[in-house]
Amino acid sequence: MSPRELIAQPITLPCGLTLPNRLVKCPMQETLATPPFYDPPMDKFRNLYNQWANAKYGLIITGQVQIDIRYLSIKGDVVCHNDSLREPHSSKWKEWAELAQAAGTPCIVQLAHPGRMSPAGAGNRPGDMSTICASPVPVQLGDGWLNKKALNAILGTPREASIEDIDEVVGAWVHGARLAKEAGFAGCQLHGAHGFLLSQFLSPHTNRRTDEYGGSPEKRLTLLKRLVKEIREVCPRPYCLSVKLNSADYMAAGAGLSTDEGLEQVKWLVECGDVDFVEISGGNAENKSSKLHNSFGAKTLDKAPKTSETTRIREAYFTEFAERVQGLNSTVPIQLSGGFRSRTGMADAIDSGVCSLIGLGRSVVLQPDLPAAILLNPSVPDEEAFAQSHMVKGQWFANMIPVKVVGAGLAIQFFYHNMRRMGNGLKSDPDMSIPSMVLKDIFETFRSGLVQTVERMLQSFPWQSKSSKID
Ligand SMILES: Cc1cc2nc3c(=O)[nH]c(=O)nc-3n(C[C@H](O)[C@H](O)[C@H](O)COP(=O)(O)O)c2cc1C
Repeated sequence: MSPRELIAQPITLPCGLTLPNRLVKCPMQETLATPPFYDPPMDKFRNLYNQWANAKYGLIITGQVQIDIRYLSIKGDVVCHNDSLREPHSSKWKEWAELAQAAGTPCIVQLAHPGRMSPAGAGNRPGDMSTICASPVPVQLGDGWLNKKALNAILGTPREASIEDIDEVVGAWVHGARLAKEAGFAGCQLHGAHGFLLSQFLSPHTNRRTDEYGGSPEKRLTLLKRLVKEIREVCPRPYCLSVKLNSADYMAAGAGLSTDEGLEQVKWLVECGDVDFVEISGGNAENKSSKLHNSFGAKTLDKAPKTSETTRIREAYFTEFAERVQGLNSTVPIQLSGGFRSRTGMADAIDSGVCSLIGLGRSVVLQPDLPAAILLNPSVPDEEAFAQSHMVKGQWFANMIPVKVVGAGLAIQFFYHNMRRMGNGLKSDPDMSIPSMVLKDIFETFRSGLVQTVERMLQSFPWQSKSSKID
């Protein structure tokens, strides 16, 4: 089979859902929703999801949707709240499901809780209310007084989730899974990676509990096991249930989730009989030395690598771990995400059996039609079939910012900014540099603040009839 034919093969998941090919649009939070409800912002999503829906992916995974309106990971996250199943909220969810799947690609919703990664002011909670974590372990990023002060002001110290909190979290996740089902999505994915709440329970770094939710590798799995079981009771097959997991936290020796424990977690998932595919990623916000984090400033391919049976193309960041997963000999498909850029590299990963599905993140923010236009397009030869570089220009600006929690996030902001551009009907701008993005964002914040103020003033004028008020 040619590389193009290898990635173009359909695959049927254990739930019976057939994906038309192996290319998956990775979950990436769109940052376009607005208060007070953070419903799917369909005016923007019509522009954004239309591009992905018509680009011939095998599967689309939405950006993370928060399951609790009090805890957002960033301003603009979509939220599944208490009234999401009722009008006028539910019709927005239905429209989202219809739009994303309009051209025949199935779409599933990623459900998340940020836990200790929820900044003060993100979400409907009082400023002095702390967020929750498996254990009260604050995020550490950079040394020195200024970094500590900034982190304390932005994220603070989380409180240990009580048993009641955990029951509430499980209920909210089940509610989210049900919402995805009733809206017409093909299923959901639980975000158990990148240091968010579920991953905080799975990692010994943030889970120091000694009750039934922590204290041993087996007990650290309790929350995940509960979620899978309770979601399946409400959403049986053919609903598709997936989990995204960290292969490891990749922190300094001895700290965080090790690849051995990560492998045990994948083993449980592929053997439990309830999960339809597992997405493998890695790292968390505290670990800035991984391939993923370093890749923001690095140029990627100029030319696609050639395939050869003796030397496999290993462009994905977590291939080594995926090879260990391959050793489990499970029939549950594995999605490998992070680093894939070339058609030949993707085809080689599938051909070698390390994964069945290819996750595409940053490249499909910069080129949303990458599958249809390049990877699956028979008129593009293999040596030219690769995503353009996702190198973010102007990293020097981010490095100059003395507060790490702000500077380190700017490269990812570049992709949020481009998704917001697409939501506003513009094209992604891969050549924009970090300083010009920051200036544009400052201008936009000022402009929308000004518009809102003028709107409020106009609404308060006595001659404004009710019907002509701006809402
Ligand atoms: C802007 C942005 C937002 C992201 N949001 C999420 C998310 O909501 N959920 C998630 O599991 N991963 C998220 N990720 C990680 C991606 O899903 C993916 O694992 C990562 O980008 C590596 O793939 P890539 O090398 O193809 O970009 C995000 C990544 C980026 C760049």
